[in-house]
Amino acid sequence: MTDNSTWYRDAIFYELYVRAFRDDNRDGHGDLRGLLSKLDYLQWLGIDCIWLLPIYPSPLKDDGYDIADYYDIHPDYGTLEDFKALVKGVHERGMRLIVDLVMNHTSDQHPWFVESRSSKDSPMRDFYVWSPTNTRYAQARVIFVDTEESNWAYDERTGEYYWHRFYSSQPDLNYDNPKVQQAMLDVIRFWLELGVDGFRADAVPYLFEREGTNCESLPETHEYLKRVRRFIDENFPGRILLAEANQWPEDVLAYFGDGDEFHMAFHFPLMPRLFMALALHDRTPIVNVLAKTPSLPDETQWCIFLRNHDELTLEMVSEEEREFMWSYYAPDPRMRLNLGIRRRLAPLLDNDRRKIELLNSLLFTLPGSPIIYYGDEIGMGDNISLPDRNGVRTPMQWSAGKNAGFSEADELYAPVNDDEVYGYRKVNVDAQRDDPGSLLNWTRHIIRVRKSLPALARGTIRLVDVGDEAVLAFWREVADQKVLTLHNLADSEREVSLDLSDLGGAEVKDEVSGQGIGVAVADFKAHLPPYGYLWLSFSDGGVG
Ligand code: NOJ
Repeated sequence: MTDNSTWYRDAIFYELYVRAFRDDNRDGHGDLRGLLSKLDYLQWLGIDCIWLLPIYPSPLKDDGYDIADYYDIHPDYGTLEDFKALVKGVHERGMRLIVDLVMNHTSDQHPWFVESRSSKDSPMRDFYVWSPTNTRYAQARVIFVDTEESNWAYDERTGEYYWHRFYSSQPDLNYDNPKVQQAMLDVIRFWLELGVDGFRADAVPYLFEREGTNCESLPETHEYLKRVRRFIDENFPGRILLAEANQWPEDVLAYFGDGDEFHMAFHFPLMPRLFMALALHDRTPIVNVLAKTPSLPDETQWCIFLRNHDELTLEMVSEEEREFMWSYYAPDPRMRLNLGIRRRLAPLLDNDRRKIELLNSLLFTLPGSPIIYYGDEIGMGDNISLPDRNGVRTPMQWSAGKNAGFSEADELYAPVNDDEVYGYRKVNVDAQRDDPGSLLNWTRHIIRVRKSLPALARGTIRLVDVGDEAVLAFWREVADQKVLTLHNLADSEREVSLDLSDLGGAEVKDEVSGQGIGVAVADFKAHLPPYGYLWLSFSDGGVG
C-alpha cells in the first residue's frame, strides 16, 4: 500500500457484495471469512480498493441499506473480529477497503426509530422527520417509483407521518437535529478506528429537507458533508469519501466543494451514455456528456462504472433516451425496474466479447477511477426471475464444482446461475484463470496496462474529431506523457487519419497489444476492427 495521500486517483476499485462472494461457514450466505479467503484473487487481478455493500445488522428489506445497528456486523457475515481480520488481510496485500455509509436513513427496526415512533413525546422523536400531514415537501420526487407512492408513511401509533426517500421501511434521519449530526460522526469514527480506508456514502443528496425545494443537494446538506470531511481530515488523513449522488455533473460538482467535501463521486450520467453510444454506433452521447462534465478541484476524482448492484439507472437521461434504452437493452418488461434496467454487463452486451472489451476500454481510459462490479470480470449473467435487484446479486462463480465453488451448503441465499450461456459450469474463475485468452485474463491485463500509463489516471482529456461519428478519439495528457485512445463504436471496420506531425516522428505503440504500429506523421492511419480500440503511446512519452 503506497502512502500517497491521493492514492484513490490511481486506484482500481472493485465493488462486492459479501453475501454473494464466498461462504466460509457453510450456511449458504457469503461472509467476511469467505471474502478473506479470496483476497489473493483480488490482489492477483490488480485491485487496489474494495468497496463492500452494507455489512451491518439489518432486516434486509433493502439488502442491508436498511441498517438496524451501525456498530456491528450482520450475523450472516460474521463478527467485528472477522472484520478486523479482513482489514488486516486487505492491508497486508497492499490493498484498501471502503465500506458503505448509509447516512440518510436507518431501518425501521433501528432502536432509534423504534424509540422515536413510540410517542410524540419520545426524547428521540426528533431523530426522524415527522409531520401531522403528508403534504409537506411536495416537490420532492419519489425514487422507488415501482413500489412507493409517496415519501410519507402513516404511523398508526402516533397518528403522524414519517419521511422516507426510499422504501417506507427506511425512515430518513432528521439532520436538522444536532444530535443526529453528532451520532453519524460517531459512527464514522468507529469504522475509521477499525481501519477502513473510507466510505462510499449512500444517498447523500437527501440529508436535509426544505419547503419549496426538491429537497436535494441543499446548502445545509453540503455544509454537514463538509463537516464530515473536516472531521476525517483532522483525525484520519488519507481516508476517503466517495459520494453516491445520482445527479447531473454540474450538480455533482458541488459535492467536491473546493476540494473540501468529497474526494470522489460517481459519474452517473456518463454511464448510460456509454451504452447509448454503443447502441447507436455514434459517439455523440459521450461527447455531449463530457462537454457537460466540469473539471474538478485538485486532488479529487470521478469514480466511473459500467454496472453496479442496482438497476442501470436511467434517471439522468431524457424521457426519449430512456424509452430508447429500455427498448434496446430491456425488451422484456421483467428487465425493467424503477427508472432503470436490472441486468448485468455481459447480457446487456449480448455476451459479445468485442462489446464487453470496448466498454471496458472506455471505463479504463475516460477520466476517473474505474470500478468493477464483482463477476463482471468473468462475464457473469443475471437472473431476471428473481425480484428487485437480486438478479444481479447472485453467487460469484468460482468454479464448475458444487454451487460454483461459492459454498458447500445445500441451500443458498439465492440460486447460482446455471443457464446455458452464463451458468457457472461455463463461466467461472477457475476456467478463465487457466485460459490466457479469457475475459478474466484480458481484464487483468488491461488493469496492468492502465497502471503503467499515469496519463490515464491523472491526465487531462482532449477530444479529437476524426471525421467519423462512430469513432471516439481522445488524448489523455500529463506533463510527461500523452496517450491517444480510439474507440470504434460501430460493427464495421473503420480507418481514421490523424495529424500526428506535432509528435515529430515518434514511434507509435498500441499499449494493449504491445505492438508498434508505425511512426507519428501528418497523415497517420489507424485501423480499427468492428468495436475495436487502441491505446496509443509515443516514444519519449510523446513530449519530445
Ligand atoms: C442507493 C443504493 O445503491 C441502493 O442499493 C439503495 O437501495 C438506496 N441507495 C437506498 O439506500
